[in-house]
Amino acid sequence: MQKKYLIGNWKMYKTTQEAIGFMGALLPELKAIDAGSLALYIAPSFVHLSAIADLIGDHQSIQLIAQNCHHEAEGAFTGEVSAAMLAAIGVKGVLIGHSERRSYQKEDHPLLAQKIKRVLEAGMQPFLCCGESLAARKHGKHKTIVQQQLQESLMGLTPKEIETVAIAYEPVWAIGTGQVASLTVITEMHAFIREVLSELCAGEKVPILYGGSCNPQNAKAILGCPNVAGGLIGGASLRVDAFMQIVAALLEQKDGTGYSCN
Ligand code: PGA
Repeated sequence: MQKKYLIGNWKMYKTTQEAIGFMGALLPELKAIDAGSLALYIAPSFVHLSAIADLIGDHQSIQLIAQNCHHEAEGAFTGEVSAAMLAAIGVKGVLIGHSERRSYQKEDHPLLAQKIKRVLEAGMQPFLCCGESLAARKHGKHKTIVQQQLQESLMGLTPKEIETVAIAYEPVWAIGTGQVASLTVITEMHAFIREVLSELCAGEKVPILYGGSCNPQNAKAILGCPNVAGGLIGGASLRVDAFMQIVAALLEQKDGTGYSCN
């Protein structure tokens, strides 16, 4: 069976004590199920990564992703965190270009392309986020925007390198709003992203995740859409019961995402 992804993006929520409490409750629940076909990740704040890495230990059922990293390998960049620093404490991947960072930190495509290179050099998996704003969708520009985000952020990578990247389609208007994209939109956009990746010679191998107001109630339908290889979950990943309900929805999925990552 093909691998299905679930990433809990905690954003700027939880103290270290709360993060440890969450993992203390989650790990026994994961031990109790057969999650072998799933790639489960938590993306907490930088400051929790080491503590959570210690808790996870050899327990391979869930891994760590960072929410960001710097675009240079190292240097005099006060307050920043490099990809190598993350890899050294056992982090397996990094979210790149989340719409909140594109918007608040003004991250642009050339910067994101540099970050992806740093993540790959450090031996981790980049999770490149893309997605259009409501205004872009209203003006019929959603495909053009997403295509540009992918082409420019993946620029300079070989097809082999692109195959190691994962994409998360997250329409900006659906993030944290409760306004989830319809199954028609999700299906259409994931097929379109697959086409764009094919043009970059990396068609079938790249997992494409959906993110934006995904929750235990809608997860089964969303995760069952063609080309949806999993979910990037914000708000609903902050509670152990909701996280586990989405894990259950993922486990119910039959093989049929149309991608061939393993
Ligand atoms: P949400 O966030 O699930 O709270 O909409 C998703 C994300 O920002 O990754």
